[in-house]
Amino acid sequence: MKVLVTGGLGFIGSHTVVELQNKGFEVVIIDDCSNSDENVLDGIKAITGKKPLYEKLDLKEKHKVENFFQRYQDVAGVIHFAASKAVGESVEKPLLYYENNIGTLVYILKELCKKNKASFIFSSSCTVYGQADKMPITEDAPVKVAESPYGNTKQMGEEIIADTCKVTPSLNAIALRYFNPMGAHPSGEIGELPIGVPQNLVPFITQTGIGLRDQLSVFGDDYPTPDGTCIRDYIYVVDLAKAHVVALERLMNEKNESNFEVFNVGTGTGSSVLEAIKSFEKVSGRKLNYKIVDRRPGDITSAYADTTKANKVLGWKAEYTLEEAMNYAWIWEQKIRD
Ligand code: WQD
Repeated sequence: MKVLVTGGLGFIGSHTVVELQNKGFEVVIIDDCSNSDENVLDGIKAITGKKPLYEKLDLKEKHKVENFFQRYQDVAGVIHFAASKAVGESVEKPLLYYENNIGTLVYILKELCKKNKASFIFSSSCTVYGQADKMPITEDAPVKVAESPYGNTKQMGEEIIADTCKVTPSLNAIALRYFNPMGAHPSGEIGELPIGVPQNLVPFITQTGIGLRDQLSVFGDDYPTPDGTCIRDYIYVVDLAKAHVVALERLMNEKNESNFEVFNVGTGTGSSVLEAIKSFEKVSGRKLNYKIVDRRPGDITSAYADTTKANKVLGWKAEYTLEEAMNYAWIWEQKIRD
């Protein structure tokens, strides 16, 4: 019995492959390497001793998806990470996002519906909440009008899965709504590999810390928060990866209460941009060069998870703090710049 991990060479995907292998699953990865590198396979092997099966394949090619599932009849579960995820780029190129994020999801679901039983874990995002009215955010917070085509693909993705599960009792799915993933594996063998100028805060911090970037721009300190900078729920990528394994096991062991469930995956703690910077300065012993600039369009003030459902129903809880995760992000940054 195999587990397919699409986008398994990516940041969250690779860490999830490691945790799947640690729990004894046989993994096959599909990745088109548009935002990742085949060398990540060696990093995974260095950690677990097992090199996962891998197929370089563009999931937008429907016949190739069909052919894959014909060749791998024993795939019992899929964890679907493969998607484009840059908010800004999605505004510039909406059709690229709808084709890549929605088209590929439909092709995979069609294949899973042919099976007698299938488990499906969907990579969703707290982006679906937009600026939630109440903190911390619970799963029944209203899904607001998406602020970007990227966020819309996550909302639409959940709806497509829900509609499919309604008429396909053999398909059991869980959507995991990630908050802000960060960090790198403790081994230093895998981590985040942003291409070009990082969009996200943490890699920009570590690249500034190591001198690759001159200065971090803090997008606004006039928000209605204690220190004026935006608040997010920064979750360690290994904690996040483990949530995927727990979710998959829930479905495979038929512990799910319905055939489509949604869980927030965060630490439950909100941290501001300035607090993230302070955690970097503490773990690195370096002063970070940053300046306050104008707000970034589309940013929300605050988002952090109510983790009650994940803790009580899913049986998962984040174990690492922002500081511990930042430490691993920093160790990784130093290693890849060696
Ligand atoms: C975090 C905070 C910025 C960079 C995005 C996506 C979300 C998910 C995670 C994919 C914000 C501030 C950032 C910088 C800064 N992606 N910041 N200077 O926007 O919360 O979430 O990434 O699933 O869907 O929306 O993450 O890391 O970009 O920003 O001040 O150079 O850091 O304003 O307050 P975000 P982020």
